[in-house]
Amino acid sequence: MKTPTLISERITLRKQTLPEALYSRKWSRNRRVNRFLKSDWGNLSDAEETKFWRDGARSKTQMRFSIVANENGEAIGGCDLKFFPNDERAQVGIMIGEEKYLGKGLGTEVIKILRDYVFRTWKINRLELTVHINNPRAIKCYEKCGFKIEGTHFDLHKKNGKYISAHSMAILKKDWRKLPKIKFRMFE
Ligand SMILES: CC(C)(COP(=O)(O)OP(=O)(O)OC[C@H]1O[C@@H](n2cnc3c(N)ncnc32)[C@H](O)[C@@H]1OP(=O)(O)O)[C@@H](O)C(=O)NCCC(=O)NCCS
Repeated sequence: MKTPTLISERITLRKQTLPEALYSRKWSRNRRVNRFLKSDWGNLSDAEETKFWRDGARSKTQMRFSIVANENGEAIGGCDLKFFPNDERAQVGIMIGEEKYLGKGLGTEVIKILRDYVFRTWKINRLELTVHINNPRAIKCYEKCGFKIEGTHFDLHKKNGKYISAHSMAILKKDWRKLPKIKFRMFE
């Protein structure tokens, strides 16, 4: 899938480069970021991360973006989209890795861009994600973008020897249509 560049007021989303993917392991080693993520990819070797990045770049059903702050051009995190065409649904994931950019509304801006991009461009009826139940900042961010909690997967993941439950959240196209949209430009 060709990854577009999407530019809003404060954020640019563009295809993640291999050096950025290798660097992003540093973020996932930071406990304040990593404790909310499903997997610990901070421990991947260069070869493993490179393979993961190459597989993603060749994929016909997923896109991996870098999140870039327009104010200084710094890559501050990453996000991705996965497409399930048979079900007409997509999944979204996000991590702001640079701590000083957390809690400033940028995550909400990113999710709104991805939400409006996929519903306008892909043939989907549903956009979904899972989020740890102990991640209120992320849950609030997704709710502000129109996602609703559908249910809870109990003990879904095991991290550092502990089971973690996660909510399933989603937004359907019929509900997205009623929401105000975010302004962004798109280049392919
Ligand atoms: C989750 C994430 C993308 C959200 O982006 P963000 O830019 O930090 O969040 P935003 O500022 O856009 O929105 C957060 C909202 O949660 C609120 N919030 C923050 N901490 C909160 C808490 N402990 N309880 C309830 N609400 C909280 C904020 O006040 C804000 O709402 P408001 O705008 O109405 O005031 C980002 O924090 C992140 O990447 N975190 C690390 C990795 C992660 O958790 N990824 C998600 C995995 S599902």
